[in-house]
Amino acid sequence: MNFSLYMTYRRGRAVSKRIGFYGFVCTGFVGLLLLGKLQAAPRAPLGLKSGQSCANAQCHNAQTSFRHLHTKGKKELCIHCHKPVKPTRHRFRPADKTQRVCIGCHKKYSQTHPVRKSWRFEHGPVAAGDCLSCHQPHGSNHRNLLRKKAGQSCSICHSDLSHPKPPHPGLHKPVKQGKCLTCHVSHGSKTRHLLRANPIESCLKCHKKVREKLAKTRAHHGAMERGQRCLNCHTGHAALHKYMLRRPDSKLCLGCHNKAVVTFGKKRLINIAHYLKTHKVHHKPITKGKCTACHKAHGSLHRKLLAENLPRTLYSKFSKTQYALCFSCHKPELVTTKQTYRATKFRNGALNLHYLHTMQKKGHSCRFCHDVHASHKPHLIRETVRFGRWDLPVGFKKMPHGGTCQTACHHTRKYNRSKPALKGYSSYKKLLVAPKIARPPPHRSKE
Ligand code: HEC
Ligand code: HEC
Ligand code: HEC
Ligand code: HEC
Ligand code: HEC
Ligand code: HEC
Ligand code: HEC
Ligand code: HEC
Ligand code: HEC
Ligand code: HEC
Ligand code: HEC
Repeated sequence: MNFSLYMTYRRGRAVSKRIGFYGFVCTGFVGLLLLGKLQAAPRAPLGLKSGQSCANAQCHNAQTSFRHLHTKGKKELCIHCHKPVKPTRHRFRPADKTQRVCIGCHKKYSQTHPVRKSWRFEHGPVAAGDCLSCHQPHGSNHRNLLRKKAGQSCSICHSDLSHPKPPHPGLHKPVKQGKCLTCHVSHGSKTRHLLRANPIESCLKCHKKVREKLAKTRAHHGAMERGQRCLNCHTGHAALHKYMLRRPDSKLCLGCHNKAVVTFGKKRLINIAHYLKTHKVHHKPITKGKCTACHKAHGSLHRKLLAENLPRTLYSKFSKTQYALCFSCHKPELVTTKQTYRATKFRNGALNLHYLHTMQKKGHSCRFCHDVHASHKPHLIRETVRFGRWDLPVGFKKMPHGGTCQTACHHTRKYNRSKPALKGYSSYKKLLVAPKIARPPPHRSKE
């Protein structure tokens, strides 16, 4: 509020050009009123008895019996908004109900003021100049002259938001509590959706744990840094999906990863949606739509936003922690037991071929043979694996009780769980012919 304007006005000197004739008249009136305080007024202004002000015990109680008064005892304000028809008669033109009447004193809400000019987004009723849709002109029992309590003043118009209909498993707590103004401003903002701050700060000011985690993670997800930030994936209020997500499960991820997304390092990622469409054998967590079983949506300590460790390279010395990602669901025994009839089907007789390939100094990483998302072949076996710049064929074929691999790594090899193949297994011949573990009864073995 431009208080000095108000003071000059009080002294009866404010002559607003816009007010024109009436301004002139009313200025005269205030002069008279002030005069009346010092000495008895010669004429009763506005048809009032001398010394009588607009609001007192008998008159205009309705305009002055609020806990918070606009005029705060400055009763002369009345005629700023109520222009007298004649200076001596108690008749007034209807008060202007648009913002025109407010911005004379509340300068920052005038369209030419730098504060209002800085808003890129104006709230509907403010843009329409209807200050009185939220405020009462005379006073209110609520702060800020609001028509309703702060928590309810938005629901005058946005009733659908403060009382969303069930089912809303993800109704956001501050919305439920009616704390609209923790996130929004009421008049205008630089940020879309009338948010107080940019979409990442609006959220992180309460979500301290997310902030801490982000500070610790090495790589943030591109989705956090671009566009609508947190709002790329979450809604602000409520959603039909858990965690207030815009779309459920993998649909959320595939909404962006339905093209070759380019990373910060200018690498093109594969188009996962297309890949899943064209590769019909899907890994079970993918079938269930759980991309987040393996990836951290916000950011991760591991490469490719992985939830756990997985070797970056195709060859790696084996350790359980290196493959923690796969072993968060699969039993490590599928690799660590040299001989088994149970832990895996990738075996020749009892000889575990996972062990053979992986439990070495230069062990083959799972990715050498498997594609973690999907594949054309059974058991998620890849057709080819990127070897330097060459696509090395894996050449897997499923056979009864086993399979064959016609690959560039070695001569064609077979494995058979019930009748072990011997060709190509010369150093393991003894184990294959006479395994050191007992074969379980047929119904208990995997095959
Ligand atoms: C900031 C501008 C403003 C000031 C100051 C103001 N009024 Fe009003 N007044 C209005 C508006 C706008 C309306 C019309 C309200 C409506 O229709 O909802 C109104 C309406 C009225 C009415 C009609 C009944 C009603 O409440 O709707 C009376 C009487 C009235 N004002 C008296 C006063 C008196 C007395 C004062 C000084 C104590 C005063 N006003 C100060 C803006 C003002
Ligand atoms: C003649 C000058 C004048 C006019 C016109 C005027 N106001 Fe005010 N308004 C004031 C003064 C003075 C205050 C008290 C400011 C303060 O305490 O800092 C105030 C305070 C307010 C407040 C804050 C109240 C609170 O509880 O803190 C609101 C909201 C407000 N005005 C809205 C309006 C609206 C809406 C209009 C137009 C209908 C309007 N004002 C017109 C002088 C005016
Ligand atoms: C959608 C409802 C709404 C509309 C429309 C609205 N206001 Fe407000 N106004 C509020 C709320 C809520 C607050 C208190 C919280 C805050 O500061 O945002 C407030 C606070 C204020 C304040 C006191 C705080 C300050 O900024 O000094 C003034 C003055 C004010 N409004 C003037 C106006 C004027 C002038 C208009 C019309 C141009 C207007 N308001 C339109 C909801 C509204
Ligand atoms: C007088 C009716 C009215 C009241 C009261 C009201 N709004 Fe609005 N609000 C609107 C209108 C009209 C729009 C514009 C709708 C549109 O553009 O589709 C709007 C739009 C919005 C938007 C969306 C802006 C955007 O750019 O997407 C937000 C956020 C909002 N209001 C928040 C609030 C909050 C917070 C309050 C309480 C302080 C509130 N509204 C009170 C009428 C109101
Ligand atoms: C936790 C922060 C937060 C709170 C609290 C909050 N909002 Fe929002 N609101 C947002 C965000 C973020 C958006 C925009 C993104 C979106 O679509 O969800 C939004 C959008 C809106 C919109 C425009 C889009 C739409 O859905 O129509 C309106 C209107 C709105 N809010 C009103 C309200 C009202 C009324 C309240 C109080 C009941 C409220 N908001 C409480 C964050 C919040
Ligand atoms: C005013 C503080 C506040 C702000 C601002 C805020 N939140 Fe929340 N949010 C909460 C509270 C409180 C909960 C409930 C936490 C709980 O129950 O453990 C919550 C819960 C959540 C949840 C988890 C819901 C669930 O099912 O566990 C998500 C997701 C969320 N907020 C996202 C956001 C996003 C996105 C924003 C920014 C648009 C945001 N929040 C802004 C206070 C806030
Ligand atoms: C790429 C999409 C995406 C973005 C961007 C995103 N989130 Fe999430 N968020 C999720 C998913 C998915 C979950 C569910 C986590 C799960 O299933 O493990 C989640 C969970 C949450 C939760 C509840 C669980 C927890 O981790 O505490 C909060 C709170 C949350 N997000 C806040 C935010 C905030 C704040 C931002 C912006 C800084 C943000 N999110 C950005 C996808 C996202
Ligand atoms: C708003 C669009 C968007 C959504 C939604 C989205 N992403 Fe992303 N994602 C990106 C962008 C952009 C990048 C590239 C930037 C980068 O390096 O992180 C990316 C990169 C990735 C990467 C590779 C990171 C790297 O270091 O190479 C993975 C993995 C990923 N996203 C998984 C997911 C998962 C899982 C979800 C669902 C929870 C998801 N994305 C949802 C936009 C999105
Ligand atoms: C079983 C674990 C698992 C699941 C489930 C999973 N991913 Fe992955 N994802 C990985 C691994 C491991 C990598 C790294 C592969 C590599 O570097 O060869 C990866 C890589 C990615 C990449 C980067 C691709 C590139 O070109 O570098 C994106 C994008 C991605 N995943 C998105 C998704 C999406 C979207 C979903 C859900 C539809 C999903 N992932 C489900 C394990 C998984
Ligand atoms: C979130 C849990 C989860 C994670 C993490 C996971 N998997 Fe799986 N995987 C499954 C489930 C569930 C199945 C289905 C098992 C079944 O049907 O018995 C499966 C099946 C498989 C299959 C067999 C497919 C077939 O048709 O025989 C392979 C191969 C596989 N996973 C490899 C991996 C590799 C490699 C990793 C680590 C990069 C990994 N998985 C991480 C849950 C997971
Ligand atoms: C040399 C290629 C190769 C490597 C390396 C490899 N696998 Fe396999 N894996 C296979 C083949 C072939 C099958 C199919 C066995 C069958 O059913 O005939 C298989 C099957 C599986 C299955 C299905 C269940 C089972 O054991 O039969 C899982 C789970 C699995 N592999 C996980 C892994 C994990 C985890 C790694 C890395 C630690 C890995 N694989 C490394 C070739 C490989």
